[in-house]
Amino acid sequence: MCGIVGYVGKESAQEVILQGLEKLEYRGYDSAGIAILEDGVIKSDKFKGRLSVLSDYLNDHPISGSLGIGHTRWATHGAPSDENSHPHLNKESTIAVVHNGIIENYVSLKEELIAKGYEFKSQTDTEVIVHLLDSIYEGDLLEAVNKLTKLIRGAYAIGVVCSKNPGEMVAVRNESPLIVGLGKDENFIASDIPALLKYTRDVCILENGETVHLTPEKVTIYSKDHEIVQREKFTVDWDVESASKGGYDYFMLKEIHEQPTAIRETLLRRLDENGKIKLDDIKLTKEDLEKITKVYIVACGTAYNAGLIGRYAIEKFAQIPVEPDIASEFRYREPFIDQNTLLIVISQSGETLDTLAAIREAKRKGARILSITNVVGSSVARESDDVFYTWAGPEVAVASTKAYTTQITALYMIALDLALTKGTITEEFYFDTINKMKELPEKVERILENAEDIKKIAEDIKDSQSAFYLGRGLDYQTAMEGALKLKEISYIHTEAFAAGELKHGTIALIEDGTPVIAIAGQESLYEKMLSNIQEVKARGAYVISIAKESKKEIEAQSDRVIYVPDVDDILAPVLTAVPTQLIAYYTSLIKGNDVDKPRNLAKSVTVE
Ligand code: F6R
Repeated sequence: MCGIVGYVGKESAQEVILQGLEKLEYRGYDSAGIAILEDGVIKSDKFKGRLSVLSDYLNDHPISGSLGIGHTRWATHGAPSDENSHPHLNKESTIAVVHNGIIENYVSLKEELIAKGYEFKSQTDTEVIVHLLDSIYEGDLLEAVNKLTKLIRGAYAIGVVCSKNPGEMVAVRNESPLIVGLGKDENFIASDIPALLKYTRDVCILENGETVHLTPEKVTIYSKDHEIVQREKFTVDWDVESASKGGYDYFMLKEIHEQPTAIRETLLRRLDENGKIKLDDIKLTKEDLEKITKVYIVACGTAYNAGLIGRYAIEKFAQIPVEPDIASEFRYREPFIDQNTLLIVISQSGETLDTLAAIREAKRKGARILSITNVVGSSVARESDDVFYTWAGPEVAVASTKAYTTQITALYMIALDLALTKGTITEEFYFDTINKMKELPEKVERILENAEDIKKIAEDIKDSQSAFYLGRGLDYQTAMEGALKLKEISYIHTEAFAAGELKHGTIALIEDGTPVIAIAGQESLYEKMLSNIQEVKARGAYVISIAKESKKEIEAQSDRVIYVPDVDDILAPVLTAVPTQLIAYYTSLIKGNDVDKPRNLAKSVTVE
């Protein structure tokens, strides 16, 4: 996730771009930069840090000119730094590029460019774009970008300006978002609509594979095959506040809907050209693994719940016993830690103090730390030996959703990689599981298509004093996350129970009408789960089941059923989590709560 703004017109490009970037800071905020054509020369400034670092500098050192591009970054390849910030320029500073996305084949392209004598200043994948453009540019910027798209692979939105083509800007998109803003004697590009609302409400959305050529007077969109495309403009009638939520009422709903992309990115960015998992920042060798006698997974809240799924995956695939623990408890219970311990920590923000304290304690005792985090350069990332970054993009809503499903995705990948290194799974199983994981984003999309149906369930449970989630095996872990989500934003007292435990006490809580959300996503435990559903139903529970779509017979035991696509048991938690997120979201919404900022909570918990 990064934000792009580009301007070609008659006004101050600096002002338009800075105003636009301010509205895109939610897409990334670890560095920002700008490139403007001033008197025939591209001037560029870029800095690590918030956008304010750049704007403060430009206040004192303004750049004049009416053609330019800007970028706010959420670091992916290469930590936040001035050098890794965008725009990237060629050696002569005649071409400047901003990019959002990933160039999957950047390693081989970089090698080829280095062989041709190009020097790289950054660790980014983006820098290959500008040097490639330099190598193919023959006077026509649009033609150069067309050629570029034949050479690069991956997800991208790219904006380019060239000092030899004053008054022109070219942009192209594949998967990453890009819109075109239409003005009078001025035109714009941006990653998202809010960036442009101060200047225009007339926009066109670029489709995948399309390129756009902009001058102050004209915008021409080209298809993948370089045919001119007639695109209807539309007029935005949202206010700025709702536009930054991409048309969604709340960030939480937006983030729930971003999950297919987030899961896809987390997975695909870590697959090499042969479809194998590449854990660049994790250097655990077979010899390292052989020495490991103890694995802990430590995290807080939702991240801990993701860790519980990770435990199953690592134990199943890599056959290494794993002990999960809550970070705030872990360090006070004197765990057995030595040089042969691997501590896997999970933290969306990378700044949770309890988690950091657990890292420090384990490190002090000699453990090796592998972290899964969403924020590049965060404290957790910095203090770990090995890091796996999820690619969820900034998560704004306090209730974590896309971070959770990408953390699980990351844990599956780590488990598969460890297992293959250890030789506990076959290559066939490994690739088969990766292929099944590739289907997850589309399966999540299918669940989201029916999101609105879950409103009815929220209506049913909104006035309840308490609610229960039930599950067995991996479904129990999903139940824990579902219960946390529902309680934290709806304020309904919700507990999760292992369905087999009911008869040992909990079932006494079931009364007429008590909502019980039964997760029945595990084929291997399905029959047993049906019996548990019957037990609570017989005592008056109002049962909402979450089941695989081939399990229609569950309807006879349930008051309502939410189906998810069929999937292997081990991968089911990614799918069954989504309805639980929607149940929580709609219940909170209907109750009139502040969905994104529930009472008493904060997004980043930096206190003990
Ligand atoms: C719940 C939620 C929290 C966080 C927890 C850890 O929706 O978001 O439970 O998961 O505070 O935060 P991170 O992952 O940033 O360490």
